[in-house]
Amino acid sequence: MLDKVNELILEVKAFKANSKEEVESFRIKYLGSKGILKDLFGEFKNVENSLKKEIGQALNNLRSAATDKVNELKDAFESATESQSSYGDLTRPAEPIPLGARHPISIVKNRIVEVFNRIGFTISEGPEIEDDWHNFTALNLPEYHPARDMQDTFFIEKNPDLLLRTHTSSVQTRYMENNTPPIRTLSPGRVFRNEDISARSHCIFHQIEGLYIDTDVSFADLKQTLLYFTKEMFGKSKIRLRPSFFPFTEPSAEVDIYWGLETETDYKITKGTGWLEIMGCGMVDPNVLKNANIDPTKYSGYAFGMGIERIAMLLYQIPDIRMFYENDVRFLEQFKSVL
Ligand code: DAH
Repeated sequence: MLDKVNELILEVKAFKANSKEEVESFRIKYLGSKGILKDLFGEFKNVENSLKKEIGQALNNLRSAATDKVNELKDAFESATESQSSYGDLTRPAEPIPLGARHPISIVKNRIVEVFNRIGFTISEGPEIEDDWHNFTALNLPEYHPARDMQDTFFIEKNPDLLLRTHTSSVQTRYMENNTPPIRTLSPGRVFRNEDISARSHCIFHQIEGLYIDTDVSFADLKQTLLYFTKEMFGKSKIRLRPSFFPFTEPSAEVDIYWGLETETDYKITKGTGWLEIMGCGMVDPNVLKNANIDPTKYSGYAFGMGIERIAMLLYQIPDIRMFYENDVRFLEQFKSVL
């Protein structure tokens, strides 16, 4: 019996099949309920005790050789049919290409830029590591001016003249130094403030600055531009300007838009007033023009600045500013459908 079993093992190992059906009949022949192994195990009962160990082992070997063979051949046929069918129907739809999503800060920045592009604003950028002149002094914030405390600054230790810009207004100064009026420019960028991180504020955030300088620019031009912007950006057509103070503009104002009080969220985000503050603005202070060698008797202009996170939080109902910087894909993926 031992010889017979060993012979069968060789036979099994050498077996080759041309089709799935052949594999199946091979399986039935050896492993089926009326198969060879079943018979052999039946015969095994009558084997002499002294031979049981050896023959038992041989039988087990035969069973695993047959099982392995069946699995191996089945796998081979399956992968062959798969690769064949991948050439099969050439008109079938393609595999979808997984698309990434733009970051909500980029989405909002691009939208703002697009709205102002349409009325002739260009884009300008400046360095994130800025000197005192461009971030403060040229903007009518001389040393020891109390208004410097409005923005907690990160200074560069090795050189106290250098700092991380606290606002994108620094790009105004640089742009005016290198260009002559008429000026219509928009400066998006990252800014830094030494502030505690919470759901509402962060030490890194983004702003967009606008600057418009020409002859005879008036406050009415500023207001009309802002109204155009809020209509295009938010679909809201009521704004109000509240008197405020910024060292680089005179007069200065805070811009509120009327968001409405239609839903519960409207109540929540406007604290029940219907109004939302979205940016600061004003007429460029003559000192700022002078500092950039632009003649304030000939030219006037307006400027405005807004926080991009704040607007993105409003538009997408994002409750916590920290979500923008954590890069959690579950958050980012939600902006897939937005361009
Ligand atoms: N730089 C101001 C800030 O960071 C924002 C700002 C206000 C910019 C008024 C302006 C402006 O250009 O006119 O808070």
